[in-house]
Amino acid sequence: MKTSISRQESPGERYRDRCMRRPSEIGASEAMKSNRNLSRGEGRRLENVALIALMLGSLVLLSLVRARFSPIGKTGEAIKAAEQQAMGKESVKMETLDTADETASLVAEEEETQPKPSDSSGSSGGGVGGVSSTALAADHHLRLSKPVCYESSRRSDTCEATGDVRVQGRAQTINISPLEREWKVKPYCRKHDAFALAHVKEWALRPLSGDAPRCTINSSATAFVLSTGGFTGNLFHDYTDVLIPAFITARRYAGEVQFLVSSFKSWWTNKYLEIFQQLSRHEVVDTDNDHEVRCYRSVVVGPTFHKELGVDASRTPGSSSMVDFRAMLRSAFGLERATATPSGYQWDIRRRPRLLIISRRSSRRFVNEQAMVDMAMSLGFDVRVGDPDVSTDVAKFARLVNSADVMVGVHGAGLTNMVFLPAGAVLIQVVPYGGLEWLARGTFREPSADMQIHYLEYMIQVDETTLSDLYPKDDPVLKDPNSIHKQGWDALKTVYLDKQNVKPHLGRLKNTFMEALKLLPHGQSNQV
Ligand SMILES: *[C@@H]1O[C@H](CO)[C@@H](O)[C@H](O)[C@H]1NC(C)=O
Repeated sequence: MKTSISRQESPGERYRDRCMRRPSEIGASEAMKSNRNLSRGEGRRLENVALIALMLGSLVLLSLVRARFSPIGKTGEAIKAAEQQAMGKESVKMETLDTADETASLVAEEEETQPKPSDSSGSSGGGVGGVSSTALAADHHLRLSKPVCYESSRRSDTCEATGDVRVQGRAQTINISPLEREWKVKPYCRKHDAFALAHVKEWALRPLSGDAPRCTINSSATAFVLSTGGFTGNLFHDYTDVLIPAFITARRYAGEVQFLVSSFKSWWTNKYLEIFQQLSRHEVVDTDNDHEVRCYRSVVVGPTFHKELGVDASRTPGSSSMVDFRAMLRSAFGLERATATPSGYQWDIRRRPRLLIISRRSSRRFVNEQAMVDMAMSLGFDVRVGDPDVSTDVAKFARLVNSADVMVGVHGAGLTNMVFLPAGAVLIQVVPYGGLEWLARGTFREPSADMQIHYLEYMIQVDETTLSDLYPKDDPVLKDPNSIHKQGWDALKTVYLDKQNVKPHLGRLKNTFMEALKLLPHGQSNQV
């Protein structure tokens, strides 16, 4: 009961489902998780009891269906249809599944937990160890000698196996020897998000038996199974759910890894092909349409998540970090600027600091964008306005962002482009009205440090939001945002994210822009 209440509070996030299911252990740990859930979710409550009951019903059905059969049952189908509709309309403009976007940050609110091996009580077992105990050694040995699926983070399950590995993509089945029992996993980093996972196919790892399929292709690379279902198509999710976790997992193989992509979308894979090619020397396989029996000596199913738009270098082999990820992006897209230093040529336009405004079209729009441009120019900025949408050529837009020294935009998926900013650049996140600091923090503020990007925030005040035109002065929307938050995620999103445009005070914004200038190397010379 309570689980579904919390589920209501923020779609897809509070609801704890396990994408990796071991038949024996569902009971107790599920109950514990639900309880934890309950206390966490206490804050936000929903009024609509009927809706809750309905949600509960569909969730139960959904999890039952998923527990036994293919991941997409009737409920899943309905959600899928709804999402496809949404994708068709919105995602194409990248206003997208902002639901997802913010769901993500709700998750970010929670404490990051260390990976828990689901098999034993050992440590995360990565091998970097100050801890030495026989238990750990035994665990390590188990890891080496047989496949283990484990909770690689609170958001991801990962399975690793070596031996005789035979992948049948169309059946989402991997036969493995040695393997003691069957495992199921959804290879997408949002393991507690039922909504996202409704679009992620479940993979089965099965002990190889006598009637094993014959290999039609042999490979010496490591197979790496991941899914581009879920919330992909939204720039923020592309990176935080898939690309960065893929980097975390695949980097160690130095190219000797083959991406087996489930819930394949060719446009998506093509969009990021340059990134895949940085990580792998082998072709990307669309497993949904793959009739081969592909054989490997090792396999990894499910990328590992560390943190929102980030890499925890202490947990990656070779200490790969966000700095390495960004270097890889520069190499993938031919980005020239590792750092935000001005050009050495006196007459080069690059001697002026460049400000990039990330423009939005349908919600959270800058109403006075042109005035902002003029003001920034008066400060000496070379100003560009970028309006990324889903059809935007990634490499081209990446080059524009990389050419900028300061990037400013209202909270939204477009700010994910910060990954292309040179080190030492400044990101200014404009936070819409409505008590959304926590949202700004989880999504773009916290990740900025590891990207070596200076971060500034501009909070929209009540006299800078178009909500002031829509609601009377004493309306709770303006007077008491907290009361709207309490109505749940949907209410919050509808009001503060979908209905709002912003009109920053030029004087106040100017101060923020000048602060940004001071942070740049340009400011240290006699420029400006
Ligand atoms: C793959 O390797 C196995 C074992 O070495 C061999 O029996 C089989 O013929 C190979 N298959 C192909 C298609 O190369």
